[in-house]
Amino acid sequence: MTMKQKKNIIIDRVISRIEALSKNESLRGHALEENRKFFEAVRSLPLYLLWLALGTPTLEKNRVPSFSELDPEGWGKDFQEELLHFERSRFPSILTPLCSEIIKMIHRIPDTGGRPMILASIGCGPMELERRILKALLKGKIRHPVVIFGIDASEHAINAAYENLSKCRIPTMEVPEVTADFVKDFLFTGNERHRVVLCKRDVLEISNCFPPGGIDLAYHRNLKHRLPEIRANALDNMLEEASSRSIEAGEYRGWYLLFLSAWLGWRFPILANDLVFTNLRSPKKSELRKTERKSGTRIKIIPGGGYIKVRDMRYQPI
Ligand SMILES: C[S@@+](CC[C@H](N)C(=O)[O-])C[C@H]1O[C@@H](n2cnc3c(N)ncnc32)[C@H](O)[C@@H]1O
Repeated sequence: MTMKQKKNIIIDRVISRIEALSKNESLRGHALEENRKFFEAVRSLPLYLLWLALGTPTLEKNRVPSFSELDPEGWGKDFQEELLHFERSRFPSILTPLCSEIIKMIHRIPDTGGRPMILASIGCGPMELERRILKALLKGKIRHPVVIFGIDASEHAINAAYENLSKCRIPTMEVPEVTADFVKDFLFTGNERHRVVLCKRDVLEISNCFPPGGIDLAYHRNLKHRLPEIRANALDNMLEEASSRSIEAGEYRGWYLLFLSAWLGWRFPILANDLVFTNLRSPKKSELRKTERKSGTRIKIIPGGGYIKVRDMRYQPI
């Protein structure tokens, strides 16, 4: 079967699902219709370019959810699989700058007094980033044990992460809930150097999982603009309380990403749909610069469309 035939089969399945959902979900009718237009267009490059030019301005205004956000139970699995496939490919190395930044931050974390370092990956997805971080740590000079807590609201993300990490023999376990007591007990058991704990949770439950200041480094990528503003601000506040260091990363809004989606859509239509619909809610480069000036927080702009915003209480300018 050619790639085009495979893509068309996925699109046919998505469109029948949209038609079924439209019969029951009058409230989301507009969002479903916008998604249907996207999938019809992504079948051919000229149609898709036309859709990009005419369709995206309305999406930008209305913050329309992507298809995997509208139907997380049904299509979340395809989204996580396509995301992992994409992140595993060497071009474009979308995770490399964030991976290096996190490793740099790990080197800066002061001695934790005999307990492992605690990292929290919020909206962890299939954890390809963590697989790379742990691989680099195992090769590098850091002997200090690290425990990464992967938190995600999607069951499909947790399953994809478990499979991805276990295949690489990284000790990984899934728990129904993380509490401050669990974290304390867990840290002092087990002989493995680095470990991962997965938990299906909404971002806003983080404060129930860790005591104030209990995380050495928290980070998230392409998560904040998925949340309504009020929840995104609550996430920032919670992370400030739970950790003195955090990293927010993502892609800023721009034409580069929209054109990348044309290339992506050829192989990964579900991921391309999510990338475009969520990218239209991301901050622009100029907005990031403004935030940087106002808050004094360091924001790195990555050539090719990404940004990394670092909050480190110990390294803030006075
Ligand atoms: C673009 S993916 C990023 C995955 C991964 N961190 C990466 O860099 O590849 C965003 C992830 O956030 C998760 N997510 C979205 N809303 C969430 C919420 N309210 N609480 C927890 N996770 C959420 C999604 O399930 C998805 O796995």
